[in-house]
Amino acid sequence: MQVVAVDAADAFWDDGAALRACLGEPVPRIPPVFGYDERGSELFEDITELPTYYLTRVEWALLRANAAEIADRIDADEIVELGSGSAKKTRELLAACQRRRPTTYLPVDVSREMLEHSGRTLCAAVPGLSVIGLWGRYEQALDRLRTEPGGRRVVVFLGSNIGNATPVERTQLLADIAATLAPGDGFLFSVDLRKAAELLDTAYNDPPGHRAFADFRLNHLTHVNRRFGADFAVEQYRPRAHFVERTGMVEGHLYALSDQRVRLPRLDLEITVPRGGSINVGFSAKFDGERLDDELAGHGLTVEHRWLDPEWQYAILLARKQALAAANSAANGLTPESGEHVDCRPSHRRTHKPNVKRCMDVPPRSRTAVHRQTREARCAVRDEVPGDPGRPVR
Ligand SMILES: C[S@@+](CC[C@H](N)C(=O)[O-])C[C@H]1O[C@@H](n2cnc3c(N)ncnc32)[C@H](O)[C@@H]1O
Repeated sequence: MQVVAVDAADAFWDDGAALRACLGEPVPRIPPVFGYDERGSELFEDITELPTYYLTRVEWALLRANAAEIADRIDADEIVELGSGSAKKTRELLAACQRRRPTTYLPVDVSREMLEHSGRTLCAAVPGLSVIGLWGRYEQALDRLRTEPGGRRVVVFLGSNIGNATPVERTQLLADIAATLAPGDGFLFSVDLRKAAELLDTAYNDPPGHRAFADFRLNHLTHVNRRFGADFAVEQYRPRAHFVERTGMVEGHLYALSDQRVRLPRLDLEITVPRGGSINVGFSAKFDGERLDDELAGHGLTVEHRWLDPEWQYAILLARKQALAAANSAANGLTPESGEHVDCRPSHRRTHKPNVKRCMDVPPRSRTAVHRQTREARCAVRDEVPGDPGRPVR
């Protein structure tokens, strides 16, 4: 396995522009990427093992039960996974894909340690799998992939990670993903659907006797202190998450126990957080299925199949990139049809809309060409290896 830097080598966390802008929002915010230094990545793994954090457990079970069918449907040579982390769940899917044909796995992550660790583990567990870790941010990895034609590609985004972006960031990310896919390529991703606030508050806070969430959230401050010479008084913040009905998002906050004045000299910035005020350290959107279909259609992506856990209301979705004409029709409220695709939208949405165009009218690429391109692409990149769980204080 190999790791390739796709971002400004080792400098992406030192690029303070995004952090500066987010800290200047009405509720200061630290973007999620700062949660994943080496320590943060380990702490996230601890979260996935909390008995109350259902997301990893439910998604893993869905993948285990449906890996063969998903592999058949995605029918891909190249699996690009955004925010792959430990990739412990993805292994189910990769093993099923590799049983069908030689598969190249391209995990994308800002954590080099995670890329190396997961790559080694996967190579041992799935013989024959080719792994090329892309070290850097999503946008930069997608940019790179756009310039390097590969085989039949699927972009994978697990862990309901698509919900970690703000709506504006999500629109940009979906546009970047759609622009990286050729017509017929797939986008496989998971979403946590809306559910009772109490259940979400329980899942996104530590159960008694644990502190994985608390340590993970506070580590954002420790990381920013180290990287930007900031002086956040870490012990003066109490972590707590809660579901906000109006936005449909779980928000993770650090509540100040006393008035705070924070200096970030390397960003030429000073912020104040009053007692009871907070710093946002993460969103997790809870989705409405139909609205999501429409959002994807706006990017030329048609949801073709979904695997749902009905008890936990958690789903893995496969969307397909349409040809341009079909995408335009879909964006205008018309629904493309394809014999190869299973339309799994609710039936009332299926019957009342006119069928306009087959969305898979682009012939699949020649397999020989695909394998030659894949090998060339690989050579091109190889050379560059450069607290108290009370209600919120406010
Ligand atoms: C919530 S974890 C999910 C890990 C794994 N997909 C799962 O489902 O368990 C998010 C992962 O995305 C990575 N990540 C977060 N923001 C990123 C960004 N902008 N670009 C690249 N990787 C990012 C983190 O390092 C972390 O490994």
